[in-house]
Amino acid sequence: MPKYIIQGGKSLAGTIAVKGAKNAALKIIPASLLSTEPLTITNLPAIEDIDRSLELISALGVKVDRTADTCHLDTANITTIELDHGLANKLRASIMFVAPLLARFNEARFPHPGGCVIGAGTRPIDIFLEGFQALGAELIMEEHFYHLRAKHLIGTEYFFPIVSVTGTESLLMAAVLAKGKTVLKNAAMEPEIVALANHLNNVGAKITGAGSPVIVIEGVDKISGGEITIMPDRIEAGTFAILAAAAKTKIVITNCRPDHLESLLSIFRHIGVPFETTSDTLTIKPAKQILPYNIKTHEYPGFPTDLQSPYTVLMTQAKGSSIIHETIYDRRLLFTDMLTQMGANIIMCDPHRVVVNGPTQLRGRKLTSPDLRAGISMIIAGLIAEGITEIDNIYQIDRGYEQIASRLRSLGADIKQTD
Ligand code: EPZ
Repeated sequence: MPKYIIQGGKSLAGTIAVKGAKNAALKIIPASLLSTEPLTITNLPAIEDIDRSLELISALGVKVDRTADTCHLDTANITTIELDHGLANKLRASIMFVAPLLARFNEARFPHPGGCVIGAGTRPIDIFLEGFQALGAELIMEEHFYHLRAKHLIGTEYFFPIVSVTGTESLLMAAVLAKGKTVLKNAAMEPEIVALANHLNNVGAKITGAGSPVIVIEGVDKISGGEITIMPDRIEAGTFAILAAAAKTKIVITNCRPDHLESLLSIFRHIGVPFETTSDTLTIKPAKQILPYNIKTHEYPGFPTDLQSPYTVLMTQAKGSSIIHETIYDRRLLFTDMLTQMGANIIMCDPHRVVVNGPTQLRGRKLTSPDLRAGISMIIAGLIAEGITEIDNIYQIDRGYEQIASRLRSLGADIKQTD
């Protein structure tokens, strides 16, 4: 099993460029199916989740031509409306292919999505199924597949019982080709949703309100192909900012959107981490002393759950106690057990809340990465710990962070991959 081996305590500094956003690209790729005309995507991150997504769309009959961070998708001849079971099992975001298949062909067959281990059970999809039926689809439960079909999707009004990012993106895509108007209420407001809506409007869709809780979609008969550049990954940028704060060093983060990180930066002001921003760079400077500050994860523009685990590592270096309240997922705080093994002083109050007491000197340990964001958090912990940290199951890191080891080495980190 490949591992990362980290020699902690090295001084880090320098400049790091942010890659294209995983959670934007994982929707733009399926959205190409809404049109019979080709789509060119640039600034795609070279990560496992994108490889899986392109394998899935290729298995549907799309011609995929990928060179470096650019991909050309020819969606004219789709050969099936059924998602490949094996591939869909490797990627939670495989569910993003259902809406465009249903919108274009009035039918889709797919297994329960696999891949990501966080969240209640195997990540429920009840909202997706309820939303597609609200748009007029009939759901047939087969032994290993969900089977959706409709005469034609009809615009509707749908109120999300839970704010769901991919749920919002799915119903938005389905509504683009539905007959009539769709109003989505209690919609998620993530920047990736705004990017998806802007792209679809550029190719002929009629969407207003993306980025607000109410999104209105006027159905159209068709949309065209075109090209799109994937937006910078705000979670990767925030992760590097937290690394800089935890290592108490100056790091310049380029190719990013600081305006997508207002919740993190407002916390940095409270905990004494100095920073400067331009429209596309974020410079973090060493804090004299990191102060504790409680966070509660929340849908955008609140504190992102995907930055909760890196922030928890940062709070082990703060002088005092802080409460981390993870409101979105049931299992996202379980990784704190590994920080405790590294010497952190963390009390688990309940599955959604921990108290972190700091500062503590972390010590290197042998760890296993349970999920993507916990995995990168262990790298951050290993970089600031004394001694050697070994992390295995690094697929869970590589699937979301391109070339992470070599990019961190460019900042002076002593991190290498062994097979
Ligand atoms: C997206 O997941 C992101 N993934 C997640 O990033 C991110 O953590 C999450 O949004 C929240 O910001 C992608 O965009 C590919 P949700 P998503 O639907 O849309 C419950 C990462 O590390 N729910 O907003 O799947 C669900 O269990 C990943 O990059 C239902 O109950 O999350 C959760 O508790 C992790 N029924 C809550 O809603 C449903 O049908 C929010 O989930 C759907 C969701």
